[in-house]
Amino acid sequence: MDFKQEVVNALHQALGTDLDVAAIAAAIETPKSSDLGDYAFPTFALAKLYHKAPKMIAADLATAIDAKPFEAVRAVGGYVNFFLDKVSFAHSVLTTIAQDPAHYGDQQLGTGNVPIDMSSPNIAKPMSMGHLRSTVIGNALANILAKVGYTPIKINHLGDWGTQFGKLIVAYRKWGNEADVRQDPIHYLVQYYVQFHEEAEKDPHLDDEARAVFKQLEDGDPEVTKLWAWFREESLKEFTRIYDMLGVTFDSFNGEAFYNDKMDGVVQALEDKGLLHESQGAEIVDLSKYDLNPALIKKSDGATLYMTRDLAAAFYRHAEYDFVQSLYVVGNEQREHFDQLKAVIKEMGDDWADEIHHIPFGLITSGGKKLSTRKGNIILLEQVLNDAIALAQAQIAEKHPDLADAATVAHQVGVGAVIFHDLKNERLDSFDFNLEEVVRFEGETGPYVQYTNARANSILNKTTVAPAPEVALTDPTAWDVLKLLADYPNVIARAAQAYEPSVIAKYALRLAKAFNKYYAATKVLVDDAELPARLAMVQATTQVLTSALALLGVGAPAEM
Ligand code: ARG
Repeated sequence: MDFKQEVVNALHQALGTDLDVAAIAAAIETPKSSDLGDYAFPTFALAKLYHKAPKMIAADLATAIDAKPFEAVRAVGGYVNFFLDKVSFAHSVLTTIAQDPAHYGDQQLGTGNVPIDMSSPNIAKPMSMGHLRSTVIGNALANILAKVGYTPIKINHLGDWGTQFGKLIVAYRKWGNEADVRQDPIHYLVQYYVQFHEEAEKDPHLDDEARAVFKQLEDGDPEVTKLWAWFREESLKEFTRIYDMLGVTFDSFNGEAFYNDKMDGVVQALEDKGLLHESQGAEIVDLSKYDLNPALIKKSDGATLYMTRDLAAAFYRHAEYDFVQSLYVVGNEQREHFDQLKAVIKEMGDDWADEIHHIPFGLITSGGKKLSTRKGNIILLEQVLNDAIALAQAQIAEKHPDLADAATVAHQVGVGAVIFHDLKNERLDSFDFNLEEVVRFEGETGPYVQYTNARANSILNKTTVAPAPEVALTDPTAWDVLKLLADYPNVIARAAQAYEPSVIAKYALRLAKAFNKYYAATKVLVDDAELPARLAMVQATTQVLTSALALLGVGAPAEM
């Protein structure tokens, strides 16, 4: 079904040995407007070789090319424009999708394990909008990578270790009480944490106290460990509620604490390789030859750090999963941390450092302001999801008051809207979060795509005629939809190669828009010879939209 290849072949035949196949394929463009054909070949680069004006070259080529497989081949300026044969194109695309809709777009870009470090919220803090990005981007990447042949392993590297637990435990002992924590755990734990920072500004001794308590935790003090384990358990309960709402699962919850007994080996290896240096009482790895700040491995009191645990985790994952790539979906503000992590592993002589990829993303702001737990300026994800569901519910009640199972649909639409909004933005872009905008049924939103899908479904339900891709579809208004349907496999490949779910989200929007345009221009259900073919296209559209939404982790209700 590779129509581009047909264009390449035709050009290759006409050009002979003057340009090789790969160069032809690379030069071919997709014209902005379908008036200029479906593919265009620019001749400017050939002007030198032929000592001729591009316009002439294009004219000569257009005559020389065997136009049989195409509707037309025309020279326009310095371009040769190819118009595909619409009937055979439609037939080929629709039969391919109908044969195995669930696996349409599957391909083998690679194989092997790909651990994806994702979500990774910090214990005793609410999961914020900040962690939403990591969760949904990581989940979408896992789906996309699985579709192109890899075996993703979703790892929640929980922030369940570190000096902040010293702070929390000190705060709890000073100002907390058990009954409050039992009743509303995260709420009170956050309150203690915020209070700690306020008090510590006045009394810096508190920080020393917190450091000492964290050291006790690292050394396994039973009282401190018990508190820590309790906070962790309560936090996980809350996170699990949110993951259930999002429909995201993990293969591992090995967080930072898991590596507490696995750091000695790494520190020893650094020592043995002579990479560990002392600096102001702390132990560091010098990374000046990478143009990076030194990596801090141990503090002056012997306590380990975020970096030490990430090093241990990287080695553990390498040994455990024998990965072909190891991904970390973590905010862009941690770019240097991951550059350092890779550099330290590289310094140790391990070339698999090159397979470690930080997948950074931008910030979500609210009302233009950065979100921060410490300053109390947080948006609670659970609240956002519930508000989104309520907004969806209200719109459904208005548009479709008698919808069966409206609660399930409202959940799919509300949660899907939040996920889609996050993923339609290029990863690295920062964006401001405004709930009303996110849940709108019109515009570039998840609900718009879902609504389009449901509309296509309802067309299929209005007739007893069976969709049949075998019948020729000559309808010119269907053309843009058909071309998008055919492009789906390439879109998936591009998303996988760039680790960019937004490629899929933008595609879903384009397909939904093209379909709505078609639907507005065409009487789909008129009973004529092409009805089965039109229905086949409607069906293929719902199948591909459903698949694209599923890759993003968004549901596709049949009705809404
Ligand atoms: N818990 C960290 C945070 O919230 C993110 C951890 C990312 N993963 C990692 N392996 N460092 O900032």
